[in-house]
Order: sequence, then structure tokens, then C-alpha cells
Amino acid sequence: MMGLMKISDIADQVERELVSREEIDRKIAETAKQISHDYAGRDLLLVGVLKGAASTLVALADALSIDVEIDYVKLSSYGAGTESSGTVTVRNDLSCDVRGRNVLVVEDIVDTGRTLAWFCKELDRRGAASVETFALFDKPARRTIDFHPKYQGILIPDVFAVGFGLDYAEKYRNLDSVAVLKPSVYSKETNA
Ligand code: XMP
Ligand code: MG
Repeated sequence: MMGLMKISDIADQVERELVSREEIDRKIAETAKQISHDYAGRDLLLVGVLKGAASTLVALADALSIDVEIDYVKLSSYGAGTESSGTVTVRNDLSCDVRGRNVLVVEDIVDTGRTLAWFCKELDRRGAASVETFALFDKPARRTIDFHPKYQGILIPDVFAVGFGLDYAEKYRNLDSVAVLKPSVYSKETNA
């Protein structure tokens, strides 16, 4: 189980906590209950988008009261900077055929919306019976296209967040809550 690293362990690098672990646990429990209800008696394939959604997918699956299949996909959506580019590519594909399946895509965060919108279209193209989405965090202020996950996550402001799967330069994914880093963490990186 993830979540042993707490904000107090890296207090020198953290500016403030953005989302507490209690709030994350509450959102996941509430969403799992809704999903268990909505998919009761139906086939369900959970697809986690690597790497960020791994923590969310495991926590969600643990909280479900229905049996599901689990698969993962690795997508790359970022261009050079921290902005999602229009073009999304599949870096590591699913290991299963989605034809005729009910798919629920699990993401860490929806930002511009381009990644999830593109991947949902791709699953449709592959013949999935249904495609829905859950992103644990949501930055509505950053949306560039009209995209709303079916299961809405925790709304956060337009700041770069780390923790519970979210990374900065591949670090901080195992932080047990979500935080904003001090500017000095980023400047150290660019000066290195
Ligand atoms: P789009 O813009 O396509 O992008 O909705 C979704 C992806 O953007 C990444 N992302 C973040 N990653 N902290 C992160 O660590 C953030 O604050 C953040 N905002 C967006 C993330 O990879 C997500 O899958
Ligand atoms: Mg991601």
C-alpha cells in the first residue's frame, strides 16, 4: 500500500497541502459506491492510465463491491513543457481487446481534457460497448475542450500539484496526500 511518505517527511520541499488524505479517501469511497451501483451485474474493465493513475486505480478497486477486470495503458500527451499537446500517443498498449466491453478509464487528473477525450475516442474506435471516465483530480479552469468525466473528481485550482500518483520529474508520486511544492524545488532543477 502506498502512502507512507507524508508531507511532514518532506516539509522543506512543500509549500502547502492542497488535498488531504481524508478528502481523497472520501472521494474514492463515494465514487466506488456509485460505480458498484452503476455496474452491478455487468461486465466492467477498469483501465488505469500510467503512471499517475496507479494509486487511484488500486484504491478504487479495493473499495468496489463488484468484481472487475483491470488493465493499464501508458499514454503520452505532453509536448516539451508542462502543457498537454494536442497529439496523444499510446506508449504501452492495453493487454486486452476492448471490443464489446464496458470500459471505465481511471486517470489521476484531468487538465486540458485532451488526453482523456482522445483516449475515449480511441476506445470507441476499437469497439468498446461503453466508455466512461473517472479522474481523481480536476482542474476545470484549464479545460481547452468540452470534456467532463462521468465520475467527477476533487476540484483543484490551476496550480501544479504532486502526490497520490502525481509527480514532478517522476518524484513525489508516493506522497500520501496532494501538495504544492516550493518554487525553490523547481529552480533547483533548472539550475542543475
Ligand atoms: P490533459 O491536459 O490532457 O492532461 O487533461 C492530463 C495529464 O496532465 C498531467 N497533469 C499533471 N500532472 N501535476 C501532475 O503531476 C499536475 O498538477 C498536473 N496537471 C496535469 C497528468 O499527467 C494528466 O494525466
Ligand atoms: Mg497522467
